[in-house]
Amino acid sequence: CGIVAYIGYREACPIIIKGLRRLEYRGYDSAGVALLNGNLNVYKKKGKVAELEAFIQEKDTHANVGMGHTRWATHGEPNDTNAHPHYSTSERIAIIHNGIIENYAALKQHLQHQGHVFHSDTDTEVFVNLIEEIQKQNRCTLEEAVRLALHEVVGAYAIVVLSREEPNQLIAARKGSPMVIGIGKDEFFIASDATPIIEYTNEVVYVNDYEIAVIRDGKLDIRSKEDVHQTPYIQKLEMELDSIEKGGYEHFMLKEIFEQPRSILDSMRGRLELVAGHLNMGGIRAYERKFMNAERIIIVACGTSWHAGLVAEYLLEDLARIPVEVEYASEFRYRNPVITERDIVIAISQSGETADTLAAIELAKSKGATIFGICNVVGSSIARATDAGAYTHAGPEIGVASTKAFTAQVTVLTILAMIVGHKRGTLSDTRLRELMVELGSIPAKVEKALLLNDEIEAIAQTFKDVPNFLYLGRGYNFPVALEGALKLKEISYIHAEGYPAAEMKHGPIALIDENMPVVVIATKDSSYEKVVSNIQEVKARKGRIIAVVTEGDDVIPQMAEFVIEVPATSEVLVPLVSVVPLQLLSYHIAVLRGCNVDQPRNLAKSVTVE
Ligand code: G6P
Repeated sequence: CGIVAYIGYREACPIIIKGLRRLEYRGYDSAGVALLNGNLNVYKKKGKVAELEAFIQEKDTHANVGMGHTRWATHGEPNDTNAHPHYSTSERIAIIHNGIIENYAALKQHLQHQGHVFHSDTDTEVFVNLIEEIQKQNRCTLEEAVRLALHEVVGAYAIVVLSREEPNQLIAARKGSPMVIGIGKDEFFIASDATPIIEYTNEVVYVNDYEIAVIRDGKLDIRSKEDVHQTPYIQKLEMELDSIEKGGYEHFMLKEIFEQPRSILDSMRGRLELVAGHLNMGGIRAYERKFMNAERIIIVACGTSWHAGLVAEYLLEDLARIPVEVEYASEFRYRNPVITERDIVIAISQSGETADTLAAIELAKSKGATIFGICNVVGSSIARATDAGAYTHAGPEIGVASTKAFTAQVTVLTILAMIVGHKRGTLSDTRLRELMVELGSIPAKVEKALLLNDEIEAIAQTFKDVPNFLYLGRGYNFPVALEGALKLKEISYIHAEGYPAAEMKHGPIALIDENMPVVVIATKDSSYEKVVSNIQEVKARKGRIIAVVTEGDDVIPQMAEFVIEVPATSEVLVPLVSVVPLQLLSYHIAVLRGCNVDQPRNLAKSVTVE
């Protein structure tokens, strides 16, 4: 979910609505605003922010204090009633909330006994009534009531609370869900991330877990849950406004796909120094010894970041000879995993906010492992929870389906594996040098792969109406097959499966007939011959082959219905190039099917609930 709030001298509503649009990537099942102008008006609507905007056209929206929310449903289906903000029973207090309250059922029962009435199925409505009840019983200020309520709720939250009785005041708090406060001149902004804030101010404070922020009389006061004043650490944002706008592209996703030559270069900047002939990564400097002596590396991540983790497994085992396990953060955290102080855990996350990944880090930390983070969002929760790390510097990624963040993650992980391999003596000087030169040429090769756009659109036209797709790859291209399939299902709603090409014969081969498109990533590498055999197996069953091959391949074009030629590169670096046509294929299929590529149904960019 996304939250945004404003207090100052301007009209709050337009600022909030614009902010909600910027945060829509976090969820868009419903949206709502609460505005404080003597009255406390709450307006909310199922669907996108545009629907809320239409709904409030005729309403009284004049106010200098207010807050808004865009929801990704957890408790209760997406409808008008379950949308945020939620009122307390007396309608004097309103709340917006990102997160999950785990003990809501017990609290709800207790509050119902005390006469509170619930309209929605949400845990959030329990939260606001708890605050109201505490305020009633203790005859205290809203601030005090919020603080006491936070001692009773179990779970994760980022909340903003408004009260009709205490105008000119915003109260916010967080635990486990992100929150940033923008500090303007005589005005303040609160949001789940900095994107709604940067056009007004570049001075921000990241709220920490268990902190409560009170903005009143033009002042920001941050306190601990125990009511101790905290000195806010004001940071300067370096984000540019045009990095979060579409810049002439029809969709953010397309813009981000096309940004990759640049974003890959940015992720190498200061790290790959070809002229001087060395590789740097500030984040590992202090932990070099740990990496040298690591018995094992465990990678935790979710979604596309997990796929980048799989690529890293190949890289780190190949180049640095360290055993690697790649774990879904959600499984890892509940599995009583064996972790020791000799382990290094690498957490990969674009947003740096994924709840499961964050929890996996906390678990590994408690067992004494060293945690290394690879995040895209600067200052994010995961970046702050890790011992050390490297930012991917891909710039804000807005499209829900991750593209440039993936290639940036793989680039950073490649550099990491090269540095560690070289230090451990498993990667020779000569091989290191060769790989560095090749890595330096990747942005240009990705640029070249992007020239395939029209060709791929034509292929998309052929396959846009099929119900299923299979993606096959081996070695470094196996994670790419998974990623290609994930991209397609995320945005076009076509069922797609990624599989190791050789494993196909143990199951998916049963699905192959003359209607089944099979995307095979078959670049020239050590498993090329084997993949060619797998293509034959598909062909023998009349499957329709779309092959991603290395430029100049003259074998596969004789077997495949469609061939997509990408520039040759080292086997180790091939995912950075071979994933690009698959991103474009999924994009064009989704557009041709009339899907909303930037905001696919049911998904959210940043999943801050477990
Ligand atoms: C969500 C997004 C995916 C993303 C995953 C992990 O499911 O829709 O695109 O890969 O979360 O997110 P993270 O921010 O941790 O990389």
